[in-house]
Amino acid sequence: MKIILMGPPGSGKGTQASFVASLVQVNSMSSGDLFRENLANDTELGKLAKTYMDQGKYVPDDVTINMVMSWIEDSENNGGFILDGFPRTLSQAQALDDRLNGVGGIDKVILFNVPELELIKRLSGRILCRKCQTPYHKEFSPPTNDGACDKCGGDLFQRDDDSEVVVKERLKVYRQETDPVVERYRGIGNILEIDGSLPIRVVEKSLRTALG
Ligand code: AP5
Repeated sequence: MKIILMGPPGSGKGTQASFVASLVQVNSMSSGDLFRENLANDTELGKLAKTYMDQGKYVPDDVTINMVMSWIEDSENNGGFILDGFPRTLSQAQALDDRLNGVGGIDKVILFNVPELELIKRLSGRILCRKCQTPYHKEFSPPTNDGACDKCGGDLFQRDDDSEVVVKERLKVYRQETDPVVERYRGIGNILEIDGSLPIRVVEKSLRTALG
């Protein structure tokens, strides 16, 4: 199974990635998480990515494509995967098609539709685990123990790019750069549109039904 999770910032891609991964039994990768891991490890890639992420802009295609392709090349991910947040530009989508040419292509693209006001509410209340990057929300999905991750006990923090100004820019960039990618997959006909504004458990149920 090769699945892409798409949707604007805050639509629930990260929240649902591990659920979908457990349903279809493959690994998942978030391009945003890979950039943040690089930053935490103080790599050149991480430092470069930060200059774009802090402004709500996309990291350049060549850098992003190389990073994701090397994750796919890893033998563990070769047979199937879930990509959370990649591709986001037409060039990234083309690079992925070229890579998967002859090996069946993408099976499903899952798009989470959520109104903009709800996205802003979600991002302003989001807290994340520093260690395993599991997302929580202060109101909608709080951790059981205040300040610590339920899964690994790691510290919880708020992302710098979840500030109001940067969120507005991220939403603008999404409409400009990623809406055309959504249209491309609509044209191909392998897209599955999910109402991502419903509560987390209801979204999980729709995913389970949609993926059979
Ligand atoms: P990335 O980290 O991927 O950010 P994003 O796409 O903006 O998406 P988010 O992580 O903000 O949202 P999400 O959809 O995962 O929502 P979540 O599940 O956390 O990328 C960051 C940056 O990296 C980019 O801006 C860019 O600079 C760079 N980058 C990454 N990939 C790139 C690429 N391919 N090309 C170029 N640059 C790239 O949920 C959000 C909140 O809502 C949480 O608090 C959660 O608990 C809550 N929530 C989730 N679902 C529900 C629900 N159903 N009901 C109520 N609350 C919910």
